[in-house]
Amino acid sequence: MNKKRVLSGIRATGRLHLGNYLGAVKGMIALQDDPGYETLYMVADVHAITTPYDIGKLKENRVEVVKDYLAAGLDPEKSILFMQSDVVEHLELAFYFSSVMSVARMRHLPTFKEKVKQYPEQATMALLNYPVLMAADILIYKAEAVPTGVDQEPHLEVAREVARKMNERYGLEFPEPTRFATSGENVPGLTGEGKMSKSVKGSFIELTDDLGMIKERLAKVPTDSGKGEEIPGEGGVVALLKLVELFEGHEVRAEYEERYRSDGIRYREMKKELAEAIYQELAPMQKRRAELNEDMGYVTEVVRRGAERAREIAATTVSEVKEVMGFPGD
Ligand code: TRP
Repeated sequence: MNKKRVLSGIRATGRLHLGNYLGAVKGMIALQDDPGYETLYMVADVHAITTPYDIGKLKENRVEVVKDYLAAGLDPEKSILFMQSDVVEHLELAFYFSSVMSVARMRHLPTFKEKVKQYPEQATMALLNYPVLMAADILIYKAEAVPTGVDQEPHLEVAREVARKMNERYGLEFPEPTRFATSGENVPGLTGEGKMSKSVKGSFIELTDDLGMIKERLAKVPTDSGKGEEIPGEGGVVALLKLVELFEGHEVRAEYEERYRSDGIRYREMKKELAEAIYQELAPMQKRRAELNEDMGYVTEVVRRGAERAREIAATTVSEVKEVMGFPGD
């Protein structure tokens, strides 16, 4: 059977939070455990330098993300786990790819515009090239499925465009990758506004939170009287219901919705039950993480071996591309 390749990565800008876990990592695990797919998961550490960064923090974060991956259940026996910067071929291919994309196209991406607003003085070439490097990350393995958040859709569109252009111009056969969505994406923030995001205070739950901390965070979620004819379309109540759905199941969510329209929801109890359900899923991860901290030799070996395996595939693609672009090997 021909396995479909899967590639994904998370930027090494900090530890993972519940939003990353539900929106991306769970999808990564589902595909890893599906025998129809060959999975490659990386830490996007080179992407971390596209906006201003602290060298010491980058060094730390890239290893923290590997540990979070392993603790969450990514398994080096089933997936190739590696650091982007260890596979230099990604950067080489990104440069070749940049020759088929226009500056105008890249400047108009919403993600680029947002970052320029955020760091007007530091809109670098690296930032402009961010999506091209991401296209290289994916296409270098000829990956077809990319488990990642919905916010990455414009970047995937660029990857498909690069694939089409390279295929047309050079007669290559890159697949056009598509996003693999999980039910946990668009996790709303605990503030009741926007999505769960590390950059919005009070909006997220950390994977390292203990039961007390989760309860504290949920206690702050704004609610209402708990009763009414219609479930509100946005705000804290929706955030709670979505989390109930993700951690306690569709049926429990439906029960709460039913109760909203009849006797009313008692949020104190709902929040307590939800906090316990979340903690139950996080506790084993926290335990594995503590074990990994005591076994850094293992973590280093995982990424060393991962880079070796990834490079084998990556080098083949780069040779193919060089050959057809006018740089034949000897
Ligand atoms: N841009 C992605 C994010 O911010 C991270 C990323 C880099 C990525 N390269 C990738 C995701 C390749 C999927 C595939 O989340």
